[in-house]
Amino acid sequence: YNTIEDLGDLNGKRVLVRVDFNVPMKDGKVSDTTRLARALPTVQALREKGAKVILLSHFGRPKGEPNPEMSLEQVVQAFANELGAPVGFVPATVGQTAKDAIAEMQPGDVYLLENTRFHKEEEENEPGFAADLASLGDVYVNDAFSAAHRAHASTEGVARHLPSAAGLALAKELDYLAAALSNPERPMMAIVGGAKVSTKLDVLNELIAKADKLVVGGGMANTFLLAMGFEIGKSLAEPDLVPTARDIMAKAADAGCDILLPKDVVVAEEFKAGAKTHVRAADAVRPNEMILDLGPDSIDSYAEALEGCKTLVWNGPLGAFETEPFHVGTVELAKYAAKLSKAGKLISVAGGGDTVAALAMAGVIDDFTYVSTAGGAFLEWMEGKTLPGIKVLEKK
Ligand code: 3PG
Repeated sequence: YNTIEDLGDLNGKRVLVRVDFNVPMKDGKVSDTTRLARALPTVQALREKGAKVILLSHFGRPKGEPNPEMSLEQVVQAFANELGAPVGFVPATVGQTAKDAIAEMQPGDVYLLENTRFHKEEEENEPGFAADLASLGDVYVNDAFSAAHRAHASTEGVARHLPSAAGLALAKELDYLAAALSNPERPMMAIVGGAKVSTKLDVLNELIAKADKLVVGGGMANTFLLAMGFEIGKSLAEPDLVPTARDIMAKAADAGCDILLPKDVVVAEEFKAGAKTHVRAADAVRPNEMILDLGPDSIDSYAEALEGCKTLVWNGPLGAFETEPFHVGTVELAKYAAKLSKAGKLISVAGGGDTVAALAMAGVIDDFTYVSTAGGAFLEWMEGKTLPGIKVLEKK
């Protein structure tokens, strides 16, 4: 793909930059500015080149209709604060209002257009809408890995009309992800957690072919324990997927990928904060109990397995981490991975909303080699899929 440097002289040029300002809000304020901060290097670099920077983003899922609750006007000041410079808000995405506002821009100015998803043509990737977007700029830069799995007008269609490049954040993300999964230093461990096997089947199938060790964690592990014939009491699981879990274990054995499952677990009779807990061997869970976290021996054995690895890719928590005391397994392993990374022994890449929240809880976001803010895009990348927003940037 092209980088910003390949776009030539940008002085006075209108540069359309697709960012992902789909940020969490609380009480009308941006509650996590990570995605805003990730856009800064590209925006700054373009300003230094004298470009007129026109930011495009979606925000929420307004279903093709204008909706004041999902207006990007709510985000513009938070971004201006991050940038330390004024950012103009344009209350339109295309059309005369947008054209007139952009016509007034000076080199170095930064404007944010209204939510692309206020137009149903955005998600339809309707060619006329993509052409209208493209008419607002001279070149296009995509800096939104986390939206690159969407073949929408602002992530894919527009790039067909203009000289296009990957922004600095996107290029960095692709480099780290490639280093972790396409061409990892081995041994490589993957950790896949979360509630359901059904949403991560493609990820598991892809990873058994790529990882040397695969930790299956969270609610997903329960389905695998069932597949091994263990009693799991009232634990969350997908009994329908027991044959699938057996199939994955058999394929992993053929591929030389070690699947790691909990040896011991933390159980409770009810799922609530501060519930009375017990540690049980994974094959000794009682009928009235549910598995809510890893036990201490499991944590130790995963840490030991990780110790011998050079690369880690992590998506999904290992227990019900949002409810104490069931955060311990996820947090302890995250701290251990962070320690190895800090010591230069491990390349650690993590992604996904829950995973980032768990790493933040453990206080280790900055110690991981790379933390992706992407959710769906990170999963599709782990599945080995080609993301349409990246594909369209490939050098022709
Ligand atoms: C995300 O938050 O994962 C991205 O912004 C994509 O949002 P979407 O799932 O609504 O397309």
